[in-house]
Amino acid sequence: MIRLYPQVEHQDPGAAKSYYKAAHYWPLSRFLRHPSRAVRRRRAVTIAPLILYRQSIVSILVTGSAGFIGFHVAKRLLAAGETVVGVDNYDPYYDVALKHARVNQLLEYNDFTQVELDISDRDGMRELFETHRFDRVVHLAAQAGVRHSIDHPHDYVDANVTGTLNVLEGCRHTKAAHLVYASTSSVYGASTDMPFDPSGDADHPLAIYAATKRATELMAHSYAHLHRLPTTGLRFFTVYGPWGRPDMALFLFTKKMLAGESIPVFNHGHHRRDFTYVDDIVEGIVRILYQPATPDAAWNSDVPQPDSSPAPWRVYNIGNGNPVPLMDYIEELEKCLDVTADKEMLPMQPGDVEATHASVDGLFNAVDYRPQTSVAEGVEKFVDWYLDYYKPS
Ligand SMILES: NC(=O)c1ccc[n+]([C@@H]2O[C@H](COP(=O)([O-])OP(=O)(O)OC[C@H]3O[C@@H](n4cnc5c(N)ncnc54)[C@H](O)[C@@H]3O)[C@@H](O)[C@H]2O)c1
Repeated sequence: MIRLYPQVEHQDPGAAKSYYKAAHYWPLSRFLRHPSRAVRRRRAVTIAPLILYRQSIVSILVTGSAGFIGFHVAKRLLAAGETVVGVDNYDPYYDVALKHARVNQLLEYNDFTQVELDISDRDGMRELFETHRFDRVVHLAAQAGVRHSIDHPHDYVDANVTGTLNVLEGCRHTKAAHLVYASTSSVYGASTDMPFDPSGDADHPLAIYAATKRATELMAHSYAHLHRLPTTGLRFFTVYGPWGRPDMALFLFTKKMLAGESIPVFNHGHHRRDFTYVDDIVEGIVRILYQPATPDAAWNSDVPQPDSSPAPWRVYNIGNGNPVPLMDYIEELEKCLDVTADKEMLPMQPGDVEATHASVDGLFNAVDYRPQTSVAEGVEKFVDWYLDYYKPS
């Protein structure tokens, strides 16, 4: 069942206008379900021009459009003049008001439509793909979070495995030109062979989150092989920036430091992360979106290369390529907030890894991907946004 923006409609008149715009995108097939044949025929005649009109508009689907990265990607595509349909179920894993605030910004663009839908809803997803003509798909909707996955494994299988299968099916039946989807550095799991490279091992995940993301890469491969659907998986490395996720370290630390509370520093501060600023991630996603994956002519089945294939399937890292000690990250935050953090040193958490370091050569070679933003710059931009948005006293 697809629901279009009821909450926002009540909250703000601008969004109500968008609701009516979005109503044009309601899956029309349901209007044709009526016991009376005469009514069905009358309705079919009425809506036929609308169906044809809608299917003539080529758009890009962004799943997870109310989420941190999905919001930034959709905004960037809209600013470039694309028509975008966003899908999100406003999962209550974190503050839903923040998700609505992101979408309200997207609704300021005439070429944006937001659909509230759970991607694990098979019928709803089929209707969505029948209703629109998606040329390209950026699939970012997922149940994220390594730690949360330890006690909520089913959420991850529903959203990340079943949901991705529905996206793959939609792309297959509508012959989408390219599916770009989010994977994660967590797939490197037990490997300490750094920098992590997609040509290396990714088959020892330490948490169910990572296992479901690795599963999506493998599912995408089978669709690329069987249906010649071009798919590109991007393994993200700790993305941060304005409109970021409240469950991630930078957000949590900022909130606690401003409230005068201590911050939990796991692994006694010995973590190193390849922190990647969100604008750099968006740049990489958009560049690769317009370059559909192609078969690797040099692929040798006797020595199978893990990150390419004779099918149109690729996997790349998308990180900063420059890991930063967690304590340096905290120091930048202290400078920006002008607050010295009270640090509670704690042991490593189950399912976590000590360090991440991305090799980004693959994406550099493919689309000249070069991350631009230093941690000092990125943390400052995050703090500026946080103070402006939350206006803490
Ligand atoms: N942020 C990071 O550092 C990071 C790192 C590695 C991978 N990723 C991946 O990048 C993608 C985007 O991450 P994000 O940080 O923007 O997370 P996010 O949680 O902010 O965004 C994900 C969005 O997907 C939506 N969603 C969840 N389940 C859904 C479902 N069943 N149906 C429809 N929508 C659903 C959520 O409501 C949310 O708005 C995810 O696939 C995530 O696993 C993110």
